[in-house]
Parts: sequence; C-alpha cells; structure tokens
Amino acid sequence: KTGYTTYDPGFGNTASCASAITFMDGEKGILRYRGIPIEDLAENATFIETAYLLINGHLPSPEELNRTRVLLNDFSMVHESMQIFFQNFPQGSHPMGILSGMIMALRSFYPDMGTEEDMNTHFLYLLSKVRTMAAMSYRLSRGEKVVYPRHDLSYCANFLNMMFDSPVHPYIVEEDLVRALNVFLILHADHEQNCSTSAVRVVGSSKAPLYASIAAGVSALWGPLHGGANQAVIEMLEKIHKEGATIDEVIRRAKDRKDPFRLMGFGHRVYKTYDPRAKIIKKMCDRILGKLKKEDPLLDIAKKLEEVALTDPYFVDHNLYPNVDFYSGIVLRAMRIPTNMFPVMFAIGRLPGWIAQWKESMEDPSQRISRPRQIYTGLPETRYHDIMDRK
Ligand code: SDX
Repeated sequence: KTGYTTYDPGFGNTASCASAITFMDGEKGILRYRGIPIEDLAENATFIETAYLLINGHLPSPEELNRTRVLLNDFSMVHESMQIFFQNFPQGSHPMGILSGMIMALRSFYPDMGTEEDMNTHFLYLLSKVRTMAAMSYRLSRGEKVVYPRHDLSYCANFLNMMFDSPVHPYIVEEDLVRALNVFLILHADHEQNCSTSAVRVVGSSKAPLYASIAAGVSALWGPLHGGANQAVIEMLEKIHKEGATIDEVIRRAKDRKDPFRLMGFGHRVYKTYDPRAKIIKKMCDRILGKLKKEDPLLDIAKKLEEVALTDPYFVDHNLYPNVDFYSGIVLRAMRIPTNMFPVMFAIGRLPGWIAQWKESMEDPSQRISRPRQIYTGLPETRYHDIMDRK
C-alpha cells in the first residue's frame, strides 16, 4: 500500500511503524491529519468530520456525514445497568480510572465483533458512548440525575447539555462554547506514535478486543507527563496564583535539576518548536473569554510564564516551548469542565485517533505481535543455594 512499510514487530523505543494517518514535523511545528493541516481543520471542520477523516482516510460526503450523525445519535444511550457500575466506584475515584473501567465494561454489552460492518459500528459505539459515559460519571459523582442525550443536539452540544442541564438551570446551548469544544477535540484527535497510541497498538497487536486496546490507551494517557498534563498545568497555575509565587521563582525551580518540579505544559518529545496546537488554543483562550466577557487570572499567569520561559537560555537550549496542554485547561475552565475531568476530555478527543491507528495496524497484513527485546545487564550465570547458606 502507498506509504506503508511493514509494521516493526520489534516495536522498541527506537523502532516505530509506518502510518498514513498523521504527519508531524517537530522542527517546523507542522501537524496534518490525512494530509490536511491542523490549522485548516480547526478553522473549518467539526470534530465528527475530523473523526471520520482519521478513521476512513477522507472527509465524509454529505451522505456519509449524515449517516454518521444518525448512527452516533442511535448509539448515544448507555445501558442503564452501567449506572450501577459507576455508583460502585468509591467516591472521589479519578474519572480516568472510571473511564478505563467503563470502556472495558462496554464490550460486555456489545460483544459481536465479527464483520467489517460490525467493526465500523463499534467505532461509532465508542465515539458516542464514551462521550455519554464521561458526562454521566460527572453527574453521578455530584449526586445529580443523569441527563440523557438529545436527538436534536450535535455531538458537542449534547455533551455540554448532558454535563450541565438541570431542572432549575436549563442548559442553554452557547454556540461559541460548542465551537470551542469542537476545536479542542479536533486538536487532540491524533498525534502519531505518542505514548497512549503506542499502548493501543501494542495491546491490539495481541489481537485483544478493540475495547481492551482503547482502555489501555486511556490508562497510558492518564499520566501527568502525557494527557494528565492539562490537569497538572491548571493545578500549577492555581498554586502560583494562590501562593503568589513569582514567575522568576517558578522558572528558577523548573530549571533546578535537583528539583523534580517541571514547568507543566512545556516541552515535547517531538516538537522542538512551538506546538502548532498550542498556538491555536492560545488564540482560542482570548476569543472565548472575550465572548463570555470573562477574565481568568490563570491565563495572565500562563502568558507571563510563556514570555519569560521563551527568552530563558535554559528553555531555549532545551527547545522547551508550550505544548497542547499549556493553554487547553483555560478553555476547559471557561466551559466549566472540572479540572479532574481534563484528561477525560483529552481522551474523548484522542479516541478517533486511537481507533484509526488500531484499524490501520489490524489491516496491515504483516502485523505481528509486539515483542520488544531487552539488553541484559544483570548477573552472570550463578547457582541456587539453600536458605541455610544465606545470611
Ligand atoms: C503530551 O508524544 C506526544 O505526542 C504527546 C502529546 C500528544 O498529543 O499525544 O503531544 C501530548 O503528552 C504533551 C506533553 C505534556 N506533558 C507535559 O507538559 C509535562 C511537562 N513536560 C515534560 O515532562 C517533558 O517535556 C515531556 C515529557 C513532554 C517530554 O519529555 P522528554 O522529551 O523525555 O524530555 P526529557 O524528560 O528527556 O527532558 C529533556 C531535558 C531535561 O533536562 P536535562 O536533564 O537534559 O538537563 O529537558 C528538561 C529535562 O529536565 N525538561 C524540562 C521540561 N521538559 C523537559 N525542564 C523543565 N520543565 C519541563 N517541562
């Protein structure tokens, strides 16, 4: 197939695999999904169009988009007994732990994974139900009644309605926030062979079910060095705001190699320049706060941090620039999404990318089980000796 070479079965840290899904240039800060620049998609597409593009390799025709919307609506409800599952998680369980468990549970309700048609159905089940489950877990965690999806709302408007609608404060769909959520999810939709996508491919390579691979992706994304960074950035900015630490103090700590503190939302394994997604989200912060006539002191702190860091020799020498997580939390706060749900929002965005990457590896005829090797650095051959001979 054009652009494909064999998937590297070694899958070591240095190894990677060929893919036709996402192009990244870390030096120039370029990101394209199926050849389309991220800036173009953020400006013009919806998240569902982008999900379709990633999974199917082309933008949907009007008929394909309409059919996708109908099926996403059909699949948007979640089996009622799933609520009992939520309610049995201890109070205060992290939403990412709940989400990973719930995705595994989803498979038990929809086990048939036979035909090609089935597989496309499962892709849309996941896209639609993961969004519903995220809102459901938020409501149940607050002791509130679950709000069901509505047939007359778009994918993103439905999510916000399921999160915030209430009998005493009926949710009014705000198009600016719906657009901001579409853009947020588009920017997170895929990112080549990152940590969580690698987890999805590795688990998929053993022919475990799709749901097990996606649950593994959620688990990997949870870490503060990866998808959990958006939550860590806001906690860092809130701490600075509350403690009144100076920007210089924060930058000094971030450079202190003895101090485990890092400037969260800065640095990237691939981008050695400004993350193109961060540029878009930073502009979106100003736009959405302006439209809502809101101020957020954390945005001012973030901008000051960026200004100082980008001129600091340590950050310049280490090619440390803002990444997608540095400003994304500000947008989610404007939408009233709670901080501990930020990684879940990243997971909802990344879901079509994980599905597309899983699908591509399943369709690769040379695909083998991932089996990296290790370089042995332990003891030379020795003998067992009896407990009585041990000190
Ligand atoms: C995501 O891979 C992807 O594509 C991920 C992602 C996606 O869409 O899937 O883009 C999403 O995960 C974005 C990254 C979110 N994480 C954070 O913002 C956490 C803070 N960033 C760092 O932890 C770090 O920059 C990483 C994890 C993002 C990248 O780590 P690397 O490439 O392994 O870099 P490193 O840990 O080897 O650090 C290299 C040097 C070190 O200094 P020295 O020991 O060489 O002196 O840079 C320093 C690090 O101390 N450094 C930082 C830093 N990041 C790296 N110093 C201060 N603050 C930072 N944020």
